[in-house]
Parts: sequence; C-alpha cells; structure tokens
Amino acid sequence: MKKIAIATLALGLLSSNIYTEYNCYREDFPILHHKKDHNQFVFFDSGATSQKPNQVIDTVCNTYRYASANIHRGDYGLSLKSTALYEEARAKVAHFINANENEIVFTKGTSESINFLASTWGEKFLQEGDEIVITEMEHNSGLLPWIRLAERKGLVLKFIEVTPDGFLDLEQMEKVITPKTKFVGCIHTSNAIGTQNPIKRVIEAAHAVGAKVLIDGAQSVPYEKMDVRAYDMDFLVFSGHKMLAPTGIGALYIKKDVIDSVPAYQWGGGMADIIKVPFEDSIYHPAPEGLEAGTPPIVQAIGLGAAIDYLEEKIFTQPTKEYLASLCDRLITGLEKMPMVQILGAKEHLRKEGHVVAFNIKCIPAPRLAEYLDKTFNIAVRTSKHCAHMLARRLDYASSVRASFYFYNTQEEVDRLIKGVQTFIDEEFEKVIADEKINPTNCDSCMIREFA
Ligand code: ALA
Repeated sequence: MKKIAIATLALGLLSSNIYTEYNCYREDFPILHHKKDHNQFVFFDSGATSQKPNQVIDTVCNTYRYASANIHRGDYGLSLKSTALYEEARAKVAHFINANENEIVFTKGTSESINFLASTWGEKFLQEGDEIVITEMEHNSGLLPWIRLAERKGLVLKFIEVTPDGFLDLEQMEKVITPKTKFVGCIHTSNAIGTQNPIKRVIEAAHAVGAKVLIDGAQSVPYEKMDVRAYDMDFLVFSGHKMLAPTGIGALYIKKDVIDSVPAYQWGGGMADIIKVPFEDSIYHPAPEGLEAGTPPIVQAIGLGAAIDYLEEKIFTQPTKEYLASLCDRLITGLEKMPMVQILGAKEHLRKEGHVVAFNIKCIPAPRLAEYLDKTFNIAVRTSKHCAHMLARRLDYASSVRASFYFYNTQEEVDRLIKGVQTFIDEEFEKVIADEKINPTNCDSCMIREFA
C-alpha cells in the first residue's frame, strides 16, 4: 500500500514537470529531421518564420490538386468549393481570436496590415495636429507607416519609452497619452528582446482619452490564445507564416463599429457591387469582401486555417507558454555562466514568460557567431537589430544574436546552443578578434556588415 502511494506521488511529480510531459510533435515537421555532418538541424529562428507541419503542407498541396479555382466569381462547383474553403478559413481565424467573420480582412501579413490601416483609417480619420503614440519597441513595420503618415498629414508622433531593463515605461506612457491622442500602436511581444507588454494597460490608457489602439500580435498570436473582445482591441494584426502557415497571408482584425467606415486599401476586382456614373455613387461590397480587391491569397488563407486547426488541436491544449519560458530559462542559465556573454532585455521576465533570448559575446560581431553556429553546430539563429531600430538605439546595441523558440524545440537543442557558444569562446574568439582587427578594449572598433 505504502509502495503504491509513493509510486503515485512520484508519478504525480513527474507529470507536473513540463519538461518531461510536453509533447512537441517534431515528427510532423519534415525540415527538422535534416542533418549536416551528423549534426541534427536546430532551428532557433521561428521569430522570423516558423517551420511548417505536414498537415499544413498537405493542405496547401491538396488545395492546388483538388480545389484550385478563383473565389467569389465562379458559378461552377470548383469555384464554389474554393470559395467555401477560403471563407471557412476566415471563420477559423475569427473563432481563433474571438472575433466575428466580418471583422477579419486577409492581407499579406503584419506589415501590409499596418500599412493598410495607416493608409485607410489613418488617412481618413487623423487630422493635422492630432497626436499619435507608438512605442520605442515597435518593429519597423509598426513604426515606418506611422512616420510616413505623420509627415504627410502633419500629425504629432510621440513615443512610449523603453526602460534600460527592456520594459515599456508605463509612468511615462501616462504622460505621453493625452486628450489629443487619437491613435496608439503597441507591439504585444518584442521580436527583438522578447518582452511581453502589458497591453491591457496600454489599451485602457488609450481608450480613456478616446484613442483607437492597434496591437501588433505578430510575436504573440502564434504563442497564446488571443481574445480581441476580452482586451477590447480596436485593431489586431498578425502573420500566418510565424504560426505554421504559408508566407503571404496575414489577418487584420478591425472592430465591427470601425470596419464599416474604413475605406479600401487597394481597388480592383471583386470589391464592387455596382459601378455607377458619377463614380461616387458606386456601391461596394460590405467588409471584408469590399476591402479585399483582386484575387486574394486563396490557398495561403486555407493553409492558415489548417495551421490554426493544428495549434488549437495539438498545441494550445498544452502548457506551451510555460514550456517555451523553460527553454529561455535553460538558455539564460547556461549563458550566464559565461562572463563574456551579455544577455539583452529583461532576463527574469523571459525566464517566466519568454520565447526569445537575444545576446552578444563581448566585442564579437553577431554574424560571426551565427555563421560559426550554423557551420559547426548546424544551428540557425538570427542576427541584426531584428528590424527594431528604435529599440536598438534606445538600448544601445548594434546587433545581437537571437534565439527564438517554438514548441518543436527541445532542451537538448538548447544545450547544443550553449555548447556552441562556449566552444566559440574557447576556440574562435581570439581568431575573430584578429581577423576583424577589433580592439577588445573598444568594441566599437568593430566594422562588419549587418542585416536590418
Ligand atoms: N519580424 C521578423 C523577425 O523578427 C522577420 O525576425
């Protein structure tokens, strides 16, 4: 009896350990099985784009094989089938984020969605002298469209600052959002340093002055169940390719009471009901169809639907966020043992909630370490400012090595990365310093190409 009780207790402890229990479904991802010189491929660049499971690859292939026709413009069976699959994908996206189908516009991705909003809603509703507020943490896609619009229309562009430890400065936010603020844009999770922002507070502060809020969910929607109603979002944008779906598809959520007043971003086939003369009297289809001119990314949208099925059925039923944070914790613990390594951002926060860890080896240009990890350990990481130039300027780094995790990554892979970094320090550091003519007492002496 006592033995059984001890065994049950032990099993209970084991099952509470997310390291042992997490099922990462690696067998569904053919690319993860590639090897180079007996080294298994390790993909730590899911923040840039995720890998795709067989279920999505097969859906895309089978749609081209058996259901390929244009949508909303054919009276024959194949077109009706294709239309039904496309609209079913929209319904899946809507359900996934707790929106209505007529609040979802398909776009190419997050960048196009933000450009869409700046050029349509922003162009129509923002007037000279209006204040718009974004964060210093924005990806350039959440920054540049608003800079361009502000220049064009004479808007006042203001920033929520980032603290030296990598968080939004919420006290400063309360001052920068004023009764003149008409729009606030905020990235949910930083693609560059992994900070998860308190979007509820940002949305409440914006709504308190009557401003509309855009949340950039490119780095959060793939990782957690989003609920646009619970957060009372006005706009949410995200990309399919970072959440198992094909490239070239993204979703733009626009709250119902706003979407009907948003003009089209592009004009063309499929959006008009009746073209009249004078043209102002023309009648267009209601949103979302009226906002999707031309042939849309049909198969990509259907692929996104398959990706959502996969996430809902296999991944979001598990403690995915906790698991990814455990990988961050493991990497940070390993890197902290190396005095030459500097970790960017909010380490303790990432240990609990992260899926991205960015770091540098002192004085070493990030691409040199990344190239070494690729060639010697078959590990893919991204380097650069990660298209977050305002943030890099605020935190004062030229570039970083970024490991971004998804549910298919494992502890063993993290250990390989730790070993790769240590081996680089032991065996390559001096050589790179000499090659690049770096003065180790002045790391700024390093001159090397950087990606954006
Ligand atoms: N925005 C993507 C990244 O962070 C491309 O890598």
